[in-house]
This record gives sequence, C-alpha cells and structure tokens, in this order.
Amino acid sequence: MRSNFGSRLGMVLASAGSAVGLGNIWRFPTEAGRNGGAAFILLYIACVLLLAMPVMIGEFVIGRASRANTVDSYRVLAPGKPWVVTGFIGVIGGFLVLSYYSVVAGWTLDYTVVSFSASLMKPMDYGEYFNSFIQNPSRQVLAMAAFMAVTHFVVARGVEKGIERFSKILMPLLFAIILLLMFFSLNMPGAVRGLEFLFKPDFSKVTIQVVLSAMGQAFFTLSVGIGCLATYASYFSDDTPLVRTALNVCVIDSLVAISAGLIIFPAVFSVDGVQADVGPGLVFITLPGVFNSAFGSYPLVNYIFSSLFYMLLFLAALTSSISMHEICTAYISETFHTERPVAARIVTAICLAMGSVCSLSFGILSSVHVMGMGFFDLFDYLVAKFCMPLGGMLICTFVGWDLKHSTVREQLNSRITPLLMFLFRWVAPIGIGTVFVYELMDK
Ligand code: PFF
Repeated sequence: MRSNFGSRLGMVLASAGSAVGLGNIWRFPTEAGRNGGAAFILLYIACVLLLAMPVMIGEFVIGRASRANTVDSYRVLAPGKPWVVTGFIGVIGGFLVLSYYSVVAGWTLDYTVVSFSASLMKPMDYGEYFNSFIQNPSRQVLAMAAFMAVTHFVVARGVEKGIERFSKILMPLLFAIILLLMFFSLNMPGAVRGLEFLFKPDFSKVTIQVVLSAMGQAFFTLSVGIGCLATYASYFSDDTPLVRTALNVCVIDSLVAISAGLIIFPAVFSVDGVQADVGPGLVFITLPGVFNSAFGSYPLVNYIFSSLFYMLLFLAALTSSISMHEICTAYISETFHTERPVAARIVTAICLAMGSVCSLSFGILSSVHVMGMGFFDLFDYLVAKFCMPLGGMLICTFVGWDLKHSTVREQLNSRITPLLMFLFRWVAPIGIGTVFVYELMDK
C-alpha cells in the first residue's frame, strides 16, 4: 500500500513548502537587487508562467498517473523506452541538491541559535565572523549534520505523519513570521528607499545573463525539473485539481519571494552606509549588522527581529529539504523494497558524506577543484544549470509528445488543456532548451 496525503490543505502546504525555501528568502532578493529590480521580476514572472509552471504541471501529471517514485513512473508510463533516464537525472539531482542545500541550511540553523543567544547583537566585523565560521571544519559539518538530522526525522515518519503533519504546522508558522517581519520592516525609516530599490525597473541592466538568471531562479524556486513534485503528486488523491494546485503553489511561492524582499530591503536602507546589492553575503554578513541597529533605540525589537528572521530561513529551508529527501527515499524504498525508515537512513548517510565534502570546500578542501569549481559550487552548477533544465525539458517533451493524450487530458481535467499542450510541446522545450545550451556554452 502506498501512502497518500490525507487532506487537500496538507497536500498544497507540502508542495508549497517544497517551493518556498532559501531560493525565495536568500536567492530571490539578491538576484532581484543585482539584476534591475522590477525588470528582473517581470522576466522572472514570464519564466514562471511559460517555462517553470508547465514543468510543474507536467510533473504532477506524471506523478499522479503513475503513482510511483520518479524513476518507476517512467517505467509505468513508458515501459521499455529511454524516458527512465529523466527519472535518474531526478534522483541524482535530489542527492546533489540535498547535500549542498543542507550546508547553507546548516548556516541558518547556526545563525538562529546564535541570534537567540543574543551573541550576534554585539557590534563586530560580521564579514570576518562569517568567514571564520565557514572555514571552521567541525562547526560547519556539525551545523550541516544537525540540519540533516531534523530533515531525516520528518521524512522517516512517512508521508502523512511526517511530511504532511509538519508542513501543516511549519507553513502557517512561516507565514505568520513573514507577516510580522513585514510589519516591522515597512515601518522602518528606509522603507520607501527599500521599495524603490526592489520595484524600480532598470531595463538597462537586462542582458542575456539576466534572462538566464531569471529562468534559473524560476526553476530553483519552484523545485521543478528533478522529479520532486512528481514524487509528491504520486501521493495526491484522484480528485486533486492539478492545474489549480500548480497555480496555488506558484502564487504562494512568488508572494513569499516578494515579501522577503519587502522584509530585507527596507531594513537594509534604514542603516546608513550599508550596500544593498552585495550578492550572496547579504543575508549572512550584511543583515546581522543591519539587525543590530535597524531599530536604533529598541534593542529588544532588534533582537526579536533578527532571531525570527533566521528562524524563518531555517523553517523555509527545512520544508524544502524534506521534499528533496523524499525524491531519494521514495526511490530507494520502492526499488529495493526496504522499509521507509531504512531507506531514509541510507539517503541521510549518503547525503551526510556528500554534504561534509561540500561544507569543507569553504575551508580545508578549498584547494580541491573539479571542473574548475569547489564541491559546493560544482553541486550547485550540476543541479541548477544541468539537472533542472535538462530534466524540465525532457518532462515537457514526454508529456507533450509521448504520453497518451487521453491520460494527459484525464489527469489535467481542465479547460486550458489545449493551451497547456502547446506549452508542453513547443514553448517550454524550445525556451528551456535555448537557455540550457547558452548556459553550457557559457561555462
Ligand atoms: N524550491 C526550493 C527553494 O526555493 O529553496 C529549493 C528546492 C526544493 C530545489 C526542492 C529542488 C527541490 F527538489
């Protein structure tokens, strides 16, 4: 007997939980800030609607029609054909993404603990603090392993009692923290400048590179291309409306991303002399300093703000890492007929080993390079630039051209099926394919 999600709410929250993660709160504001604000946001929305959402709906169709893990789903729907490769790209992508994502998620866990203990409230050189933290091997590996252990705990409990139950608790908590932080932020003195920075379109910054980033961001933030949502959809009930669910997930995900910008930039612009477009260091180097003085004469508010912010990052990362773990756990337990907790332990053990290598690539393994990159950057490259676009292209091509049309129609059960078929067959494969080739040539 395969498990199912017990309720529609649980299913939407779990899928939205997969989508909402570090991609929204850490990556989106950074990318939008660097790449022309609203100009980037418009491109990103176009990529979501034309490219990433069709992949999401395609994954939903494949998952629910086959009711199997991402490798077996192709064996069920297209026996004897080479489409199964798409499933393997997904499982490999799942192992890789969980391994390096847990490193950054470990930082969020560490920063949550440190902010609650008020140690981040002392004025200090946060750049130096962060650099010495990521170069400290034992603290790095410990933070990553602690995060992985929490992910393991949830996944090992199963779909309904683990993933669904925790999503139902964590997602509302996450929304509440976002609303509270947005309220704080929009009342800061730099709110207007922050909004201007995020929303003022600067079309002069739009280059082909920015288009590539917008698509990369759309795929990463919606968790598409590596069979994650196909795995979740294999637990959907028969009457779940797939198109509406996909739309809900995309809307929730985009709202959270924009809210993250609304939290971060007003705070950044409220403190003199702080740069907003500093890149990935924004959250771990710039923000601790900002949090220290954003509400100048109210240290307690600063303390609450920073502690809740890092907790938000940690919770968002957790609901995403659970879904990455599930791709691999479902595959191992169904392929090798092992009990779920055993399969989960195997996945955790492999990802702990790979995650340790990634953690150490900032310190003692920093001189080891493969394809010109350290392990962390290599895993990120393989997932975001290779597995996700290639998987996404294959998923749309499979659903558009090879899967029985009656199956697709029955699964979608929607008035916009002809439009979706056009996206599956032409727009998504050609659009994603073009970006994919550009990226490979760019390397
Ligand atoms: N969507 C997640 C985020 O925005 O952080 C990341 C992610 C989750 C990527 C699940 C891939 C995946 F399978």
